[in-house]
Amino acid sequence: MRIAILVDNYLTQLSSLRLRLLGEWGFSAYVYDWRILYDAGLSGTALLNNMRALGISPDDPDVLVLSHRHIDHTGGVRKLLDARSRPLTVVAHENLFAKAYAKDEVGEVEIGVDFTRAFLESKGAKLVLVREPYEIAEGVWASGEIPRSWGPSHTGAVSDLVPDDMALYIRHPKGLVALTGCGHAGVENIVEYGLRVTGADKLHAVIGGLHFMGLPEARVREAAEYLKARGPGLVVGTHCTGVSGIAALQAALPGAARAGGAGAVFEI
Ligand SMILES: [Fe+2]
Ligand SMILES: [Fe+2]
Repeated sequence: MRIAILVDNYLTQLSSLRLRLLGEWGFSAYVYDWRILYDAGLSGTALLNNMRALGISPDDPDVLVLSHRHIDHTGGVRKLLDARSRPLTVVAHENLFAKAYAKDEVGEVEIGVDFTRAFLESKGAKLVLVREPYEIAEGVWASGEIPRSWGPSHTGAVSDLVPDDMALYIRHPKGLVALTGCGHAGVENIVEYGLRVTGADKLHAVIGGLHFMGLPEARVREAAEYLKARGPGLVVGTHCTGVSGIAALQAALPGAARAGGAGAVFEI
């Protein structure tokens, strides 16, 4: 299985120069095997630039799964749809169009989606709004709403608990592979629910944003220790995991933690 990070806060690949990759605050990843795009980044500019640089056509994805309604994951949708010439299935939580706010260093800022259902449909998108796990292909699910039964939510500066936060779960021969956008549901909940939804008996990989930014150090250590106890083969905390959060993962999981960054490709 091959997964590429298309949009990330970071650039970590030496080939970023050769390929002229762009970074921005946001996340997007592509799962080649099922032609699933997970999230679309903030502007669409980085997404389309990096897709083309990596040899992925805007028309390649069959399905777009939106991890949650925040603009750093959904802001690229309009440009992506504009660049396509065939329909796209868009899977998102029922809460997709609810307003969303966060507080940054300056003050309150609106961070919800910048499109309407009518716009999506006018561009040939088939919108599938879900709340329960949604099986996209055999062994591949959009998580639906993730119960917060095993650990705390990671909502930091955000004004609500982001019930729409959805992971992409893949049942891989090596165990559960979980892609996460911002990780607002909390990593324990994302992983434990994923094990239940997929029926996998162990965790193999977590890739994406874990929203360790702004969390107390003790909480970050607790989350990293949880992952360590689950014994994964690959942990790529990126985007809103934050620099110190990524360092904490590398300290706790020296054999499994790897750098993310736009253009990073993982063969699993
Ligand atoms: Fe995010
Ligand atoms: Fe978010």
